[in-house]
Amino acid sequence: MGIQIAVLASGGGSNLQALLDAWRSRQFGEAEIVLVVSDKPGARALERGRAAGVTSIYLDPAGFSSREAYDRELAGQLSRRDISLVCLAGYLRILTPEFTRLFALRILNIHPALLPAFGGPGMFGSHVHDAVIVSGAKYSGCTVHFVDEGTDTGPIVLQSMVPVMDHDTPKTLAERVLVEEHRIYPRAVALFCENRLQVQGKRVRILEKA
Ligand code: GAR
Repeated sequence: MGIQIAVLASGGGSNLQALLDAWRSRQFGEAEIVLVVSDKPGARALERGRAAGVTSIYLDPAGFSSREAYDRELAGQLSRRDISLVCLAGYLRILTPEFTRLFALRILNIHPALLPAFGGPGMFGSHVHDAVIVSGAKYSGCTVHFVDEGTDTGPIVLQSMVPVMDHDTPKTLAERVLVEEHRIYPRAVALFCENRLQVQGKRVRILEKA
């Protein structure tokens, strides 16, 4: 059995779609996307998962007394399916340290800026692009990174850069960044599946193809 992948998503799920498409076109070798989980009942991500024939479940945060309890249930769902890679794709809940420890170096996230800038609590979606524009930065981009106990602080796997234009709004910048997200996230997952990511402290070395 190849690597079993779960994708956690709260929103539109365009990154989930990029991963599903890459998987279906066999870019992940023997690895399989077997589960989509969302914390939002109407998330388009759930529809996308189901359309691809993947078990897609809504886990209602209101049914749990704490974040820890929620993440314990999540971990149970993943362990039951032998998940060995968790991909966060616009998943807006901060994972508990217990969860990130349990899946250490087996959780990837896509962030819509060039970390370590413009990351951390509250930095998601349009807030990120707004902060980039306000800062006057000439470039932004996206980052795929391993998730550790901090928020957006884990080892960086891949990044891609885009220019920030004078006339940009958070929406136009987000669109330019998303194109790159959809390109590098599947690439990072493929590298993980090929066992080509070697983590040394904060640095991720990309090994040559065997
Ligand atoms: C993406 O831009 C992703 O990078 C961002 O949310 C969007 C989700 O879009 N994630 C974060 O901001 C996490 N801090 P999608 O649902 O269409 O993939």
